[in-house]
Amino acid sequence: MSSLFIQGGNVVNADRQFRADVLIEDGKIKQVGTEITPPDDAKTIDATGKLVMPGGIDTHTHFQFPIMGTVTIDDFYHGTKAAVAGGTTMIIDHCVPARGQSLLDGYQVWRDRADPNVCCDYSLHVAITWWSDKTPEEIHAICHEKGVNSFKMYMAYKDVLMLTDDQLYKAFSSIKDNGALAMVHAENGDVIEENSKKLLAAGITGPEGHLQSRPEEVEAEATGRAIMIANQVNCPLYVVHVMSKTSADEVLKARKLGKVVFGEPVAAGLATDGTHYYHKDWCHAAGHVMSPPLRDDPTTPAYLMDLLANGDLQVTGTDNCTFNTEQKALGKDDFTKIPNGINGVEDRMSIIWEKGVQTGKMDACRFVAVTSTNAAKIFNFYPSKGVIQAGADADIVIWDPEATRVISKDTHHQAVNFNIFEGMECHGVALVTISQGKVVWENNELNVVAGSGRFIDCPLHPGEAYERILQRDKVRKPIKVEREPYTGPVWSPDGVQPASQTKAPPSPTKSAGQPASSKTKDGHRNLHASGFSLSGSQVDDDVAKRNTSRITAPPGGKSNIFF
Ligand code: URP
Ligand code: ZN
Repeated sequence: MSSLFIQGGNVVNADRQFRADVLIEDGKIKQVGTEITPPDDAKTIDATGKLVMPGGIDTHTHFQFPIMGTVTIDDFYHGTKAAVAGGTTMIIDHCVPARGQSLLDGYQVWRDRADPNVCCDYSLHVAITWWSDKTPEEIHAICHEKGVNSFKMYMAYKDVLMLTDDQLYKAFSSIKDNGALAMVHAENGDVIEENSKKLLAAGITGPEGHLQSRPEEVEAEATGRAIMIANQVNCPLYVVHVMSKTSADEVLKARKLGKVVFGEPVAAGLATDGTHYYHKDWCHAAGHVMSPPLRDDPTTPAYLMDLLANGDLQVTGTDNCTFNTEQKALGKDDFTKIPNGINGVEDRMSIIWEKGVQTGKMDACRFVAVTSTNAAKIFNFYPSKGVIQAGADADIVIWDPEATRVISKDTHHQAVNFNIFEGMECHGVALVTISQGKVVWENNELNVVAGSGRFIDCPLHPGEAYERILQRDKVRKPIKVEREPYTGPVWSPDGVQPASQTKAPPSPTKSAGQPASSKTKDGHRNLHASGFSLSGSQVDDDVAKRNTSRITAPPGGKSNIFF
């Protein structure tokens, strides 16, 4: 039996902060309180004056990810080692099967890369990068046999990863049928492709071309489109890396309308901006290339942080997807070939503390919510993680809110040779990180074991999304109107067929899926029946409202060919 006793700290959960000691046994939190008697052999950690918080959960990483002709330099070992040094105790990486590769094969490839190397717990999102008739079966198998409840679709990277709108519709339908979450990388891939050609033809080959090829509206349009498509099939949607003000506005507009949408800003977008793409030093500018890009409107990070603080955005990741300078140099003559991605997994917690809590925008409880608890709820492993309470996994960070550190590539624990937060001084430092009840980071030293992290199952139907989604299914049934069949003449290229030759459709029978009648016996509208439809049709559409009016001039004028 291994015990740890954290004494004298202030426990911070998403809902409250209180003075308590924490006893940990065998990887779990055994007790939280002020009158705990620890076992004699327990190791005691003095947390007086410090915060004791759930370890961070980074919802968005790409470790050992093959993309754009190379592979990210931070693999699962380096990436998770760096994560715990910054107070993060779980990451959710992306399995991205290649076009033509089955989801199940891709999943196994990612498990084989991760399992022997991870130094903290992890899970996976699975990307759907192509569509076939078999894909729904595979989504089902991934959901029901592999512990995954989230699927990512790319609306960018045309011809490589991008899905078309009809494929998104099918994917969202299938994901919803299984009780999973749809995630989107929201950028208009067609427009980016055309813009890129134009910029290259104009001689703009440097990293500034990356930003100009994918302006803010390219992200905002795709965000709105994804939200609309997801809403057609009543599928919950999670928008990854919300990078711009207008894209964030799409998320909050949808949420105001009651749609089930979540928005994830990333550490990079909350702390730095796209003016770096105009830097004279190519390596510096290329080091910031990610998609969607950082925005050159310098007020963007503060705006995104405001939305995160007040609840319009809910959860934070990093999109950690790192490449050394020599890898970025694959695009030295053509910005479209610069591997996309930046760092963040180690620095996210300090960055959000500095830009969110230190600035007075959010309190420590909200910090815990957006760095840990909300992720655990959305991906459905709360309260195993995301909270300090008896029975939860002992994934904990002891946080010094007063201490500061200066971020640098020279001192970070990531494999990458560049850091987009270089020189930033942050309040809020992870003093001790505990993963599965073991101290993995203390006194600025790591004590990690490759392969010690576990794969964490994400159960289907997360309540955070599906309580509302399933209720909407019940009240948003499509409406069928019962009417006499049309038996009159029908136009054909051979001339109008008289009524007698027109085959009457079979007389309607009431189908099982049909909604309850919207009329009471006396013919009045039943106000208790659903009037809510995705299509915009209404329960009383079958009532002739203006049966005496005639169209004399059709919309568009009489010459309109369709009239
Ligand atoms: O720039 C980014 N986001 N790199 C990772 C690839 C992706 O878009 O997921
Ligand atoms: Zn990503």
